[in-house]
Amino acid sequence: MSEERSPREGPIGVFDSGVGGLSVMREIVKKLPHEDIIYFADTAHCPYGPRSLEEIRGLTQAILSFLLAQGCKIIVVACNTASAAALYHLRERFEVPIVGMEPAVKPAAQETETKVVGVIATQATFHGELFASLVQRFASHVTVLEGVCPGLVEQVEAGKLDDPQTEAILRHCLEPMLEKGIDALTLGCTHYPFLIPTIKKIVGPQVKIIDPSPAVARQTKRVLEREGLLNHTHRRGRYTFYTTGHPETFAALQKRLIDLPGETKGVHWSQDNSIITL
Ligand code: DGL
Repeated sequence: MSEERSPREGPIGVFDSGVGGLSVMREIVKKLPHEDIIYFADTAHCPYGPRSLEEIRGLTQAILSFLLAQGCKIIVVACNTASAAALYHLRERFEVPIVGMEPAVKPAAQETETKVVGVIATQATFHGELFASLVQRFASHVTVLEGVCPGLVEQVEAGKLDDPQTEAILRHCLEPMLEKGIDALTLGCTHYPFLIPTIKKIVGPQVKIIDPSPAVARQTKRVLEREGLLNHTHRRGRYTFYTTGHPETFAALQKRLIDLPGETKGVHWSQDNSIITL
């Protein structure tokens, strides 16, 4: 009998330009506690938002090749920008199941009573065809206000979650939306859920904040079930992180941002291979 590992036992590969995708990983851990996860942060090339679609495609293609070489059975693109720029491109090139993200325009359009909704995301997310098609399909009956918040991803990467500068960037983006009457706000960038307390302070309780991460975790579980790829083990998942940036800086921020179950013995920080040159 062969001792080879079954594909079911392979890890879930999750990636983002930086720490943003940890907001998605947190939900995947809750939903799929027995799955191993490899998280890849392309910190050296963060932010992706101002980059061209071609550049983002090249970077994500290299990340996928790396994650597949680690035996990942499914890939979660935990980044709206990378999904908008490269999801179709990646699906054409790789056979592995790939779960992508899109700004949650549909739930916002369903929930709004004022018929005005806001979406905050990066420039590249708004530029992709995906966003225009989402608005056309699900939100043609409401006004959708787009907000790019330059510098906000960098603030999160620096761990400045409730800093005056972070609040100023958010106010600059959200106050005009509030004046136009939004009552739902979609977080179209995975870095932003870490700013929910600051966002709530600005928009108040009357604006519903929509974060698509739990839906992405549910979709990941559905795809694993459909493909017969759920890990049937009873042990807790193991978590490994890779970054193209500084491993210690990433590790410190990761611990601040998400509380992983059994962190001390369950999390393996792969020191030796942490810096990948793409
Ligand atoms: N976290 C990302 C997103 O969901 C990317 C942010 C960036 O690198 O600009 O869009």
